[in-house]
Amino acid sequence: MGKAVRLDKFLADAGAGTRSEVKKLIQKGQAEVNGLAVKRPEQKVDPENDEVKLQGKVIGPAPEFVYYLLHKPAGCVSATEDLKEKTVMEYVPSDRKGLFPVGRLDKDTEGLLLITDDGALAHELLSPGKHVKKTYFARVSGIVTKDDVKAMAEGVDIGEEKPALPAGLEILSAEAESSMSEIRLTICEGKFHQVKRMMEAVGKKVVYLKRISMGPLQLPDDLKKGECRPLTEEELESLKNLKNLSKTTEKQ
Ligand code: URA
Repeated sequence: MGKAVRLDKFLADAGAGTRSEVKKLIQKGQAEVNGLAVKRPEQKVDPENDEVKLQGKVIGPAPEFVYYLLHKPAGCVSATEDLKEKTVMEYVPSDRKGLFPVGRLDKDTEGLLLITDDGALAHELLSPGKHVKKTYFARVSGIVTKDDVKAMAEGVDIGEEKPALPAGLEILSAEAESSMSEIRLTICEGKFHQVKRMMEAVGKKVVYLKRISMGPLQLPDDLKKGECRPLTEEELESLKNLKNLSKTTEKQ
């Protein structure tokens, strides 16, 4: 017999929803333990030996780590707690302890944010020496030119000791009438306000910023602002490959 835990805790830890969400489903009679409906959230289950189902689906024991992809909306901060501001954690459909956002997007930045409790993987993704690529879509005031593309490829001065590492700038549109441009910028660093400062270095002001990829992860078209879902098997595999890859390069 394994260690007995409450049914609602078991389901929430396994990623089936927040504690209060799964509680409601249990009370509605949507949970089964070994084929029998159980309506009491406090009922004890043996995670190793009992078969637990929620809405007809078998729920396994809690995985070691969990991974969520959030389409961060503007207006919330990338932190686990904040006294004044709404945090990104409010969008995560789990109250599992230890979850945190991997890196930071500014309060007014939207887009892809990974949320996990896997500290080692987060370290791999954020470690400055790993140069994990991040691509941003931005709308900027000013006309972005080929000279700016060249400057980014060489590394612009953002007021740090060393210039920013070479970055890939793609001009998507540049409209003389409104003096606005749309760009994609791929960087492999993550300094405070990195993209805004890099664009400022070439005389442009970012007025809208959205992260569209981080390493092998892409912001899915069908994930709306404020939506958050677990990583798919393939996404998780691609992240783990990244980790293995950097292990092999480290050894050389
Ligand atoms: N660069 C920025 O300037 N802001 C972000 O939120 C992310 C990258």
